[in-house]
Amino acid sequence: MGAEEFRTLRSRLYQIREKMPLKRLMVTSALPKEGKSFVAANLAQVMVRQHGRRALLIDGDLRNPGMHRHLGATQSPGLADYLLGECDEFAAMQRGPMENLFFMPAGRSVPSAPELLSNGRLKLLLQRVEPLFDWIIMDTSPVIPVSDATLVAKFCDGILMVVRSNETPSDLAKRAREEFPDKLLLGVVLNGASSGKHAHSKYYYGEAVGSQT
Ligand SMILES: Nc1ncnc2c1ncn2[C@@H]1O[C@H](COP(=O)(O)OP(=O)(O)OP(=O)(O)O)[C@@H](O)[C@H]1O
Ligand SMILES: [Mg+2]
Repeated sequence: MGAEEFRTLRSRLYQIREKMPLKRLMVTSALPKEGKSFVAANLAQVMVRQHGRRALLIDGDLRNPGMHRHLGATQSPGLADYLLGECDEFAAMQRGPMENLFFMPAGRSVPSAPELLSNGRLKLLLQRVEPLFDWIIMDTSPVIPVSDATLVAKFCDGILMVVRSNETPSDLAKRAREEFPDKLLLGVVLNGASSGKHAHSKYYYGEAVGSQT
């Protein structure tokens, strides 16, 4: 996936936003290593390349936080510290690698991700930061092994599901997709598709995973 694909993804999201309120976006996938963090980080960067747009990228993968390493940031304070009530939203945020891009790392390691994500403070956090940004993009844990992404989805406006080309078993992709209500599922990002004559078909929107070819 290159810059052009992310620009296409951005314009699709703006098209969807004309029809429904859409600011809090969650990126997830069925399994580990499908490219959730890659897609979330690149999407956040392409969003702020448009003049004056501000984005907050949140590492919501409390089990396996890694985004901070890619961005050369510290892991804490961050989301977990906020959810524990140990810092406010401003202390949990850092300036990202580009102007207008802010980053909230996962925060300190915790043994109880589901309890934290459902303790009511995530809703509060998103309400408080929403007026400050044009987009809030939240990376999450994979859906099949753990329930965290399902908890986060309750507080998001839409979900992008990443599917790794030629790797994600279709039954697992379908099972992950069924965890979420239809109205939240914006579409599927097919990651790792080879370019060439089928390059135009890298992205699919608004279709059930199982029906794609
Ligand atoms: N389209 C791509 N092109 C190049 N590298 C990619 C692409 N997608 C993912 N990667 C690389 O593959 C690895 C796994 O991707 P990533 O960390 O985004 O997956 P993940 O779904 O977030 O995994 P986890 O569930 O472990 O958090 C990373 O090193 C990432 O940089
Ligand atoms: Mg990840």
